[in-house]
Amino acid sequence: MIQSRGDGHVHLADYRAPAWRVSLAELEFELDPAATVVAARLHLSPDADQPGQPLELDGEGLELLSISVDGQSLPAGRFVYDGHRLTVHGLSGDCELATRVRIHPENNTRLEGLYRSGSLLLTQCEAQGFRRITFMADRPDVMPRWRIVLRANREAFPVLLANGNPLASQDLGDGRHEATWENPHPTPAYLFAIAAGPLERVSRQLRTAEGRDVEINVWAEPSDVPRCQYALGAVERALRWDEKRFGRCYDLDVFNVVAAQDFTMGAMENKGLNIFNARYILADEATATDADFLAIESVVAHEYLHNWSGNRVTLRDWFQLSLKEGLTVFRDTEFSADLHSRALKRIEVVRLLRARQFAEDAGALAHPVRPARYKEISNFYTLTIYEKGAEIIRVLHTLVGEETFRAGMDRYFAENDGKAATLEDFIDAHAQASGRDLSGFARWYAQAGTPTVSIAADFDEASGDYTLTIDQATPPTPGQPDKQPLVIPLRYVLYDAQGAVISAAPEADAPVRDGLVELSQARHVLRWRGLRGKPLPAFNQGFAAPVKLQFDYGVDELARLARLERDAFNRWDLIQQLASEALLGDADAEAATGALSDALADLLADAGADPAFVAECLALPDFDTLAEQVAEVDVQGLVGRREELLDRLAEDQVERLQSRYESLAAAAREGLSGQAMSARALRNACLSWLTRLDPEARLARAQFDAGGTMTERIVALRCLLHFRAPGAESALAAFREAHATDPLVTDKWIGLVATRPHPEALDDVRGLMASTWWKPANPNRVRALVGSLARSNPLAFHRRDGGGYQLVASQVAALDPVNPQVAARLLGAFESWRRWASPQRDQAREALVSLQGRLQSPDGRDLLERLLD
Ligand code: ARG
Ligand code: ZN
Repeated sequence: MIQSRGDGHVHLADYRAPAWRVSLAELEFELDPAATVVAARLHLSPDADQPGQPLELDGEGLELLSISVDGQSLPAGRFVYDGHRLTVHGLSGDCELATRVRIHPENNTRLEGLYRSGSLLLTQCEAQGFRRITFMADRPDVMPRWRIVLRANREAFPVLLANGNPLASQDLGDGRHEATWENPHPTPAYLFAIAAGPLERVSRQLRTAEGRDVEINVWAEPSDVPRCQYALGAVERALRWDEKRFGRCYDLDVFNVVAAQDFTMGAMENKGLNIFNARYILADEATATDADFLAIESVVAHEYLHNWSGNRVTLRDWFQLSLKEGLTVFRDTEFSADLHSRALKRIEVVRLLRARQFAEDAGALAHPVRPARYKEISNFYTLTIYEKGAEIIRVLHTLVGEETFRAGMDRYFAENDGKAATLEDFIDAHAQASGRDLSGFARWYAQAGTPTVSIAADFDEASGDYTLTIDQATPPTPGQPDKQPLVIPLRYVLYDAQGAVISAAPEADAPVRDGLVELSQARHVLRWRGLRGKPLPAFNQGFAAPVKLQFDYGVDELARLARLERDAFNRWDLIQQLASEALLGDADAEAATGALSDALADLLADAGADPAFVAECLALPDFDTLAEQVAEVDVQGLVGRREELLDRLAEDQVERLQSRYESLAAAAREGLSGQAMSARALRNACLSWLTRLDPEARLARAQFDAGGTMTERIVALRCLLHFRAPGAESALAAFREAHATDPLVTDKWIGLVATRPHPEALDDVRGLMASTWWKPANPNRVRALVGSLARSNPLAFHRRDGGGYQLVASQVAALDPVNPQVAARLLGAFESWRRWASPQRDQAREALVSLQGRLQSPDGRDLLERLLD
């Protein structure tokens, strides 16, 4: 994209259609880790509306070996390559540009473009990695068809995969072989992929609803293949679900998935060849937790579902990123909700939103779901683009209902198939299908910040009139001081004194139907006439509106509602509110603690309740969620109060905890069934609470020694380590040795060490960084050690001596030249620094200032600038 304004930003408003189209890209790779030669033939046509433009192609750090047009070698005066961009002059009409370049996968520590991971050669191209492989108009609205030939030494690289369908393969006689792949679908370069190496697979044949025979393969290094079975099943479930729920079928003869130990992000939806971080593929009960299994299923689904929301319909430009990411997160969460528990999935998503996305939306890095400009697109793969983007789709779904939403999706896919679309195209399709004016709804994409909905109630005893005054406001964010009201679908229920739902509809100055009011103004008023007594309202069932809701409940009312509410999500949420009140409330903290304890006692005693749901209720709001609710964050005070409350609650519940822990033992042994996972979830929650009361940690030690699943072992180990129980060190050593050759399980214990809730965990992290366990080039390891310290260990990261900030800052500087995206992610841990109480605020500023002038990557520099702005 052209950075035309000289301010270092790319602007949405500057979008221009490409001056040249590429109809077919033919690539030939001579694969070798040290030096790979890429021969490319691009079939080019000028855009009829922009004749006479020079051809401009992206190419980052390529060694140009030869260049020709229509078979004629190009004289030096006809082209310029400045290391970033290749400009060719004097082209007119359709032509074929052929280039040969040399690249060096082995030296590629950024893991963008073509890189080596162990014995594999792999690619990651989104967003702008393809230009590190060969010259191309590396923008999503240029969508050639592809023909890819891979040649390599057969012994080192027995398997050669690329996008699309396999066309041919042959032995080249000199120890090398070649494979030809063809991707017949118009596909932008960011979805290009190859994978080569000693891969083996698990495989399944199936026939799509349209009658296409498809082979699904999940590939990994040989020793990991037994752990690919679960992911393979997940691919099939995702494929079937998309057929059923969205009417979308798979469109190639093969669907390949590859697991990679070195991968910057979670996974990538390359056309027909998804490449994954191994942590989202490899699983068995001995090495993966129940949470890992569910995460694998959801990420596998996410990437599979991109085949329609992202690949068949792609993006016009990177400003539209949420058009594929928000939509695909919406789709994958619906997938998980349909397959498992809808309420539990919603709880999981809302926890993430409140703990992380709300903080992002309120911090120095806040940005709209569709930003107006960016400096480095890699910095926009954020919770806001993904999670808030998905919430906006959910708002639309709530507004129009499932059936109309599906009609809108059908229309969107039909009208944009094979094209590069915009959010307007998406909103248009839904406006057409629903017959609604969605222009107000569209504001969600332009405005940053989490809206607050504040509701005041008034009951007139004499008339029985009950009035709810509903105000919405969105706080200022960087670059956006003033906000407009949004379209917010707010659910509500009124309960009468007997606990029955009041079904009468209110008088309202906004559309109201079935317990849902559509807010669109700064204030709305709902009024019920002649009620027999003062009702008790409940709001935002299922968290349909992604907002912060304020209503001044008394503790008794919260407690009563927590029993009355029909909506499971809200029952959980009311318990969270009681906990927040117990932790942050002034006058009623003690009352809230008592009410919370009673509510938990009821839940623990309720044999009919889903144990996993009870476990979610026992998991109080985490540090990040609480920090989001206060104006200034006193880290040690907040963590201390939370620990105290947990101790007190554990004491109150000790017998019930013990009894549930024991009674669920048999159910917890039943493999991967939902019931068994649910039993393990509650048992583990009970174990964590019980360990607080037992300095010897006998139960945790016994659970650890009993072996069992990774879910049981890792929680037992966490209890031993985090409560510093006797024998913790020997348990850790045993665990470490048992899994020493497995990097994913190693990441787990490293994560436990890095998150021990104690300031001294920082010293343990330093110790590990000086050991052979420290692998700075491996993104998972960096996240396990430094990422978990920065994001999940408030006491160590915010240590009073400033050492946590210094360690993270120095790692940002050290990793910036190695893998700028990984380094930049770490910097994100400072996003809320202005709200930290002193001395932390000053120490954080100091740590950030110390980085000025030390970061070379656009990723790091962009974030640092916004953090200090
Ligand atoms: N499209 C991928 C996914 O959401 C993520 C790619 C992230 N790439 C990046 N450079 N940040 O599944
Ligand atoms: Zn995605």
